Amino acid sequence: MNPDMMKAIVATGYGTSDVLTVQQVPVPTPATNEVLVRIYATTVTKADTMMRTGKPLFGRLMLGLTKPKNPIPGTGFAGVVEAVGKEVSLLQVGQRVFGETAVNFSANAEYVCLPENGVILPMPESMRYAEAALFTDGPMTSLNFLQEIGKLKPGQKVLINGASGSLGTAAIQLAKYMGAEVTGVCSTRNLGLVRSLGADQVVDYARQDFTQLGQRFHLIYDAVGKSSYRKCKQALQPEGKFLSPVLGGAIFRDMLFTSAFSSQKAQFAATGLKPADELRTLLSQLVEIWRQGHLKAVIDRQYPLDRVPEAHSYVDTGRKKGNVLISVREDG
Ligand SMILES: NC(=O)c1ccc[n+]([C@@H]2O[C@H](COP(=O)([O-])OP(=O)(O)OC[C@H]3O[C@@H](n4cnc5c(N)ncnc54)[C@H](OP(=O)(O)O)[C@@H]3O)[C@@H](O)[C@H]2O)c1
Repeated sequence: MNPDMMKAIVATGYGTSDVLTVQQVPVPTPATNEVLVRIYATTVTKADTMMRTGKPLFGRLMLGLTKPKNPIPGTGFAGVVEAVGKEVSLLQVGQRVFGETAVNFSANAEYVCLPENGVILPMPESMRYAEAALFTDGPMTSLNFLQEIGKLKPGQKVLINGASGSLGTAAIQLAKYMGAEVTGVCSTRNLGLVRSLGADQVVDYARQDFTQLGQRFHLIYDAVGKSSYRKCKQALQPEGKFLSPVLGGAIFRDMLFTSAFSSQKAQFAATGLKPADELRTLLSQLVEIWRQGHLKAVIDRQYPLDRVPEAHSYVDTGRKKGNVLISVREDG
């Protein structure tokens, strides 16, 4: 084996999971302010499938016009610092770390480089790589939406649509931790899961329209982007908020409209585009919540690195429960 080469998943263009190939590529060299991480666990998320398809099309302005300019997918990772650049002072070789590469992707590989002031933190001793790699998708995004954007307060009523996804399973637990009264919306097969995560009330979307419950929520977090502010406004408190992590024409229109003309608000944000220091603060807070036993990762399926294309096909179904984990090394 050539120590300068590593196994990585490479997208040869935009398209179905067939564009993903397993290749030997050079191990990246850390710049003076960067660390090289040997990856133990990584993930396949909706962000990766969007990067692979190049859809929505405007995303290509950032990702690359005709093919991904960072062709290795994967954002979340957990592993061990293998080497550090000359100016690195916060992290050391041998340290267990976790974080995300955001729009740079590149984590579905045996090694990844990122700046020491990027979204990277030392891992708590008792945390497993498999858990740590999952913190930056569902938990970090949902904490950003519920706490930073939604300003959720103890005793408030929050409804989480898409409660069985990566964002939803984290949101149920985080909203309970924040002292809210939590309603989770999911399909029949996921009612037990959502209840087990702490939801006070569960709604089966196949049987009941959650906007017709006769209840008014302070916050509706449409974690899977299947509803809209217009459909939900009668189920919101007069100053309630509709939050969507999924970009589409409707949320833009509703954000503009409500910012000018309504006491209710519709809001979207791209969590991964926040400054790295703010994301590190959210991650540190999540570690504390995890330490106190209020947050656990829901892992639906686990694949080895070679089978990332299969993992993409599964995420494409839109039916995953919680997260899809990629084990890069045996103990990951
Ligand atoms: N803006 C940001 O910062 C940000 C960050 C990360 C992710 N995201 C976005 O967030 C979205 C959610 O991602 P995710 O990984 O949590 O989940 P996902 O993979 O998009 O959705 C999977 C879950 O949604 C459920 N579901 C499907 N149709 C539904 C419906 N009509 N009503 C309620 N639930 C339904 C599925 O279960 P059933 O089929 O059994 O119902 C499944 O458990 C993605 O679009 C992703 O791109 C945004």
